[in-house]
Amino acid sequence: MLETLPQVPEDSILGLAAACRADPNPNKVDLTLGVYMNEEGVCPVFDAVRLAQRALVDEEKTKVYMPPAGDPVFNQGMQRLVLGEDSAALADGRVSSIQTPGGCGALRIGAEIINAAAPGARVWVSDPTWPVHIPLLGSVGLKFETYRYYEPVSHGVNFDAMVDDLKRAGRGDVVLLHGCCHNPCGADLTLEQWGTIADMAAQQGFLPFVDIAYQGLGDGLEEDAAGLRLLVQRLPEVIIAASCSKNMGLYRERTGATIFASANPASALALRSQAQVAARRIYSMPPAHGALLAARVLADDELNANWQDELQAMCRRINGLRTSLVSKLEQFTDRDFSFIEREKGMFSFLGLSPEQALALREEHSVYMLDSSRINVAGVNGANIEYLAAAVGAVLSSH
Ligand SMILES: Cc1ncc(COP(=O)(O)O)c(C=O)c1O
Repeated sequence: MLETLPQVPEDSILGLAAACRADPNPNKVDLTLGVYMNEEGVCPVFDAVRLAQRALVDEEKTKVYMPPAGDPVFNQGMQRLVLGEDSAALADGRVSSIQTPGGCGALRIGAEIINAAAPGARVWVSDPTWPVHIPLLGSVGLKFETYRYYEPVSHGVNFDAMVDDLKRAGRGDVVLLHGCCHNPCGADLTLEQWGTIADMAAQQGFLPFVDIAYQGLGDGLEEDAAGLRLLVQRLPEVIIAASCSKNMGLYRERTGATIFASANPASALALRSQAQVAARRIYSMPPAHGALLAARVLADDELNANWQDELQAMCRRINGLRTSLVSKLEQFTDRDFSFIEREKGMFSFLGLSPEQALALREEHSVYMLDSSRINVAGVNGANIEYLAAAVGAVLSSH
C-alpha cells in the first residue's frame, strides 16, 4: 500500500539552507531561514532562558503529562505579554488561551476552532503571506481568498487595495493578519490602518485572526502588539496565534499559544474547552520544556528584565543592520534601497528577479529565496561588504 506514495520535493527554504551549508565557499552568506542570528552567525540561547533552564532542571520532579491547556503560569504570562498588562479584555475575564506546539500549533488550533464554528469558512490572506499558512489552515478544511497587500514598486503596503479587497469579507469570514514584522515582506500596517481594519471588522462582521510570531523584533514588545491590542479593545472576538520561537529563541522547544478574546467569560471558557478537544485529536498534550522556561522568564521579574534587555538589543541590532545595509548597497549600486530601513523585523524583499537571486547563489554563494526575501539578521559586520558588492555585481551583469 505505502509504496504508492511518491517522494515529495524538499521544502524549498530548508533546501536552500541545506545547499548553503554544503557550499564550500568560505565567503558564503546565508540569508534564507527566518531565525535570528547574531554577529557570529549563531542563533543564540537567551541568557534568561539558560538561567531558567538550569533552575528547571534542578527543580523538576516529574515528567508527567502537562494539563490539556498547558501550563497555567505560561498561559497567563502569554496573555499579558500579548494583550498588555492593562488590557481591559483581560480584566473583564473574556480571554482564554491554550499552550501549543509553537506558533504553527497555535495557528492550527485557531484554524480548528474556526472550522468547528464555521466549517469551510473563507480565510482572507495577504498577498504575499507566509507560505506555511496555506497547508496549516487549509488542511483543516478552510478555504482561501487573497487580499492585496505588498506593492513591489513602492516596497510598501498598498492599503487602499487591501481595504478594497476586504470590503468583500463579511460575517462568517476570517481575515488573517500578521501582527508585526510581516513575513515575507517586512511591511507593516500603521496604527491608524489597524484602526481602519477594526472599523471594517466591526461593520462587516469578519473575524480577525492575528499571527504574531515576531513580537519584540520590530519596534519593541509593546509597540509590536499595539495593532492587535486595538482590535481586541474594539471587537468582541479576535483569535491570536503567538509564538515564543523568535522572541525567546525557543524554536526547537515548540512553544506558542492560541489566545481567544471573546464576547464574555463564558464563551472564553467554551473556546478553551473546544481548543483542548481539538488538541486531543491532534497531539493530546503540549510539550512541557519550552513553556515551563517561558513561564519562568515571564513570571520572574529579574529573568524578565534580563530577557527584555537581550531582546531589545536584538531588535536594535536588526534595525541597525537595516540602516547599514542601505548605505552599503548605495556604495555598490545606483538603486534606491532606502525601503529596507522603513520595514520591520527580520525580512525584506530586495526587489531582485528570480534570475538575479539565482546568480547571487551560483556566482557569489549568497543565498536568499528566489523571491529575493532576505533574513536581515543573517547580515553581519564580516559579510555586509561582500554581500553588497555581490548584489552590485549581479545588478550590473543580469
Ligand atoms: C509568519 C509566521 N507565523 C508563524 C510562525 C511559527 O513559528 P513556530 O511554529 O516556529 O513558532 C512563523 C515561523 O517562521 C512565521 O514566520
